[in-house]
Amino acid sequence: PTGRQGVIKRYRDKLPEIPGWAISTLGEGDTPLIEAPRISARIGARLYLKFEGMNPTASFKDRGMTVALSRAVADGNTAVICASTGNTAAAASAYAARAGLTCFVVVPAGKIALGKAVQVLAHGAKIVQIDGNFDAALKLCQRAERDLGTVALVNSVNPDRIEGQKTAAFEVAETLGRPPDALALPVGNAGNITAYWKGFKEWREAGHADSAPRMLGFQAEGASPLVAGHDFENPETVASAIRIGAPASKKGALGAVSESGGLIESVTDEEILEAQGLLASSEGVFCEPASAAGVAGLLKLAKEGRAPEGVVVAVLTGHGLKDPDVILNRTRLPEPIPATFDALVETMQRVEPE
Ligand code: F0G
Repeated sequence: PTGRQGVIKRYRDKLPEIPGWAISTLGEGDTPLIEAPRISARIGARLYLKFEGMNPTASFKDRGMTVALSRAVADGNTAVICASTGNTAAAASAYAARAGLTCFVVVPAGKIALGKAVQVLAHGAKIVQIDGNFDAALKLCQRAERDLGTVALVNSVNPDRIEGQKTAAFEVAETLGRPPDALALPVGNAGNITAYWKGFKEWREAGHADSAPRMLGFQAEGASPLVAGHDFENPETVASAIRIGAPASKKGALGAVSESGGLIESVTDEEILEAQGLLASSEGVFCEPASAAGVAGLLKLAKEGRAPEGVVVAVLTGHGLKDPDVILNRTRLPEPIPATFDALVETMQRVEPE
């Protein structure tokens, strides 16, 4: 076999043991770390983008989902359930299909991005839309696992998810040859910041490095319970992936920030969309709105003279194609022109040089 082997086999000695016959993988992980020279110049640090949109279902969730679904198979489960703002649902649907398990996903009605909904439908998972937000969906799923006893919960409150997701920290340190000085990422339910910090700590403890990065977490202003210090009843943001008011891994996030000397702050929807646009148009990297929160945060810190120094990594958690509506709400395709050379030349001359 050639090519990507998936995170369970690649990091076998650093993950909980899973029997080979139970492993369910789609070749996740090994995502590119892309230098971002134009945004680096703006923030005054050397910025790299860990593009997690290059995973099989186009988000970082695949790293944890391969471990969670493989465990479900090893334990003899026949069904899994998750609450989701969309990406967890897409990843659970794909890995459950791969593993041959039934998958239930519980999502806020009408609030998940189009690409993610389409993925769930394509993989044949059972989609349950509720009149409620992500936080309500997660409570229902936790109760289903506890009271029904027939379904395994595959949200990031499941420790296998965190184990899988920590492999992204190993990859970053391996690719750079050392851990970065700071790592910026979006924070929603707070599983990912918990996982990265666990990964960097283990990397240091294993003697592969003598440092670990400052963890810089960014929430959307309208859904920023970790910044405000209290849960949000009605979280609101254009970044639907992180529209979460009561993060389940709050403790992990706050621990990561205090132990690493980092921070959790908020960015506005406007700052998020601006960062998404800048990444796409000046670096050629298209991520979904939530994924741009880390870069939005770095740009904000730079404006205030607080940008981190040295080598900085921003995690772009999901692909831009997940959420086409956000782009179409701002730009439209132009009207067609006659299929003549004259019309083409005239149209080309109307484009202002950059
Ligand atoms: N970025 C994207 C694209 C996400 O989908 C999520 C979470 C996050 C960032 C935040 O990660 O929750 O570990 O702090 N999405 C979850 C979901 C909630 O259901 O897909 P977190």
